[in-house]
Amino acid sequence: MMTDKILQQQIEYYSARANEYDEWFYRIGRYDRGEKNNQRWFNEVAIVKDALHKISAVDDILELASGTGIWTQELLGIGKKITAIDASEEVIAINRSKLGLPSVKYYIFDLFTWQPDTEYDLVFFAFWLSHVPPNLLNSFLTKVNQSVRIGGQIFIIDSRFEPTSTANNHILEDDRNIYQTRNLNDGQEFQIVKIFYQPDELQDKLKQVGFQAEVKITDNYFIYAHGKKLSNALYNS
Ligand SMILES: C[S@@+](CC[C@H](N)C(=O)[O-])C[C@H]1O[C@@H](n2cnc3c(N)ncnc32)[C@H](O)[C@@H]1O
Repeated sequence: MMTDKILQQQIEYYSARANEYDEWFYRIGRYDRGEKNNQRWFNEVAIVKDALHKISAVDDILELASGTGIWTQELLGIGKKITAIDASEEVIAINRSKLGLPSVKYYIFDLFTWQPDTEYDLVFFAFWLSHVPPNLLNSFLTKVNQSVRIGGQIFIIDSRFEPTSTANNHILEDDRNIYQTRNLNDGQEFQIVKIFYQPDELQDKLKQVGFQAEVKITDNYFIYAHGKKLSNALYNS
């Protein structure tokens, strides 16, 4: 029950934050952690982008929790068509206004009730897996498996536990605590789920649901996985 409320708050948080979301990625305002840290961040972003762009061109990509388009714009260089799903109308509106391309189709769905009905060449999600609570992880990853054709790929990016990753007024709780408090620029407060994975653990979870994946980390900020679907997942939640 507690988790249900927090999952609803997560959607409300990202909707309310839509206009200030990109400040996090571009290290602006509360996310500006000084030149040295910012440079480390951008260098590590470049490493992850290089890994993503090693993927050969594909036809159809599904992007889950697409947000304001930071990664959607990268995916445009890989896939002919992109299907972007997010629960927040506000972030989808920003994504659409930035990219505004017929090759990107947008859908507003809650990923915890969404049912996949198509298989894609590549399923991508950035900074989303960390917001999936542990009790819903298997069912979510099973749906990811159902969205990828056999031999198709997944690419996942997420955060490592590093205090300078988040805003300077966010207290990064102990990494065993699955809930974190987040504020907007105006001080509004929300509770969200945030899980930090270790590479081996993520690789094992992906294996359990039919993906063979290589999981890597950058020095401070990111964990990323590139995998291939070997088999259909058995539903095991
Ligand atoms: C940390 S942001 C990541 C956005 C984007 N992938 C990026 O890397 O910039 C998390 C995203 O998940 C979306 N979200 C939150 N709860 C959701 C849910 N239940 N179903 C679908 N999307 C959700 C938010 O609206 C937000 O855009």
